[in-house]
Amino acid sequence: MTLRGRGPRRGKALSNLGIIEDGALLLCDGLIEAVGPRAKVEALAAAKGAEKLNVGGRVVLPGFVDSHTHLIHAASRAEEYELRIQGASYEEIARKGGGILNSVEKLRAATHEALEKRALAALKRFATYGTTTLEAKSGYGLNVDAELKILFLHLELRAKQPLDIVSTFLGAHAVPEEFRARGAERYISVVLEPLLREAGENKLAEFCDVFCDRGAFTLEQTRQILEEGKRRGLTPRVHAEQLTRTGAAQLGVQLGAASCDHLEHINASDIQALAKSKTVAALLPGCDFHLGSKEYAPARKLIDAGAIVALATDYNPGTSPTLSMPMILSLACTQLRMTPAEAITAATINGAYALRLEKSIGSLEVGRLADIAVFDVADYREIPYHFGINTCWLTLKRGVVVHAATNANS
Ligand code: NIG
Ligand code: FE
Repeated sequence: MTLRGRGPRRGKALSNLGIIEDGALLLCDGLIEAVGPRAKVEALAAAKGAEKLNVGGRVVLPGFVDSHTHLIHAASRAEEYELRIQGASYEEIARKGGGILNSVEKLRAATHEALEKRALAALKRFATYGTTTLEAKSGYGLNVDAELKILFLHLELRAKQPLDIVSTFLGAHAVPEEFRARGAERYISVVLEPLLREAGENKLAEFCDVFCDRGAFTLEQTRQILEEGKRRGLTPRVHAEQLTRTGAAQLGVQLGAASCDHLEHINASDIQALAKSKTVAALLPGCDFHLGSKEYAPARKLIDAGAIVALATDYNPGTSPTLSMPMILSLACTQLRMTPAEAITAATINGAYALRLEKSIGSLEVGRLADIAVFDVADYREIPYHFGINTCWLTLKRGVVVHAATNANS
């Protein structure tokens, strides 16, 4: 599945996977040098003397682009998972100081080594499921030291392991405990200055995100933070309409956000606004699944209206502790009623577009990075069809093997 052609994909084009039966790729120096039918690629002069990797007729696609994760956190919140099963809601737990603030307390207490070790282990597992590029958000630090510690860690991790990490500043994830009495505005002034200044001047992040929702930041606060982020060179993206409808999706469109994420509570006019824009509608069904909610985002309406739909894990300890894109594809198919082809497009080329990286990743075309996932299935539809087991057989990042299943020699 090449996903070749002009990205991003909207409407019916989401079904176009650019399949080549019995295909082959020629890779050189981490890039794709040729792609096409096997006989043709093998006959190329440049292919003479190339090392041959036979994937035995398995399904080959671009590595997944996970455009929304909260990679850096210190620990799970399994205790809150149990509380929710027993009837407490996500918002109740957050109001009592759990939720995001629970993770903030744990992150602030964690050593740099512990955070790095946990992130490196997670990154290895991302590769195991076929992900080759991911976005990572700060947002569990919520003070100058801890937020900058996370952003620096994003940069350090780029040098310590093979996957590409795109950094997003999410200082406006929640109002930290020590500012609750003083009010959100006082904390926002810390986000605007010094945090956004540091992030911008030192190029610690490409994007600026805000959690706009009841119990988090208001629409006006979100606008203020995203606009300041833009002035600092950070492209906006926004957690929008997850728990309640706030208007954040249309604000995101207005500000030229790269993506609006979640979107469980959007209305018809939000769908129209997204459909007419270049802002990606990034859907995160892992969240609703993990929270036990039945209110998934209206993916069908978004696709049919012409919005650029992407899928991501939202890997985080509170609402979506999975890092498996194949599991997200399974949820997209059964819960969002996306077809397997639409889900794969949303997880590759459209995910790349959500990070504005569609010119280098998300498709298998000449000149793109050799970021490739191979699945041990006979038919691409089996990628979402199997759930809870991992059928990813091989993952290449810039042409280098970063995951091989134990049977990958057979
Ligand atoms: O994307 N909604 C806000 N942020 C995260 C959850 C954060 C948490 O609960 O720790 C999300 O769902
Ligand atoms: Fe999130």
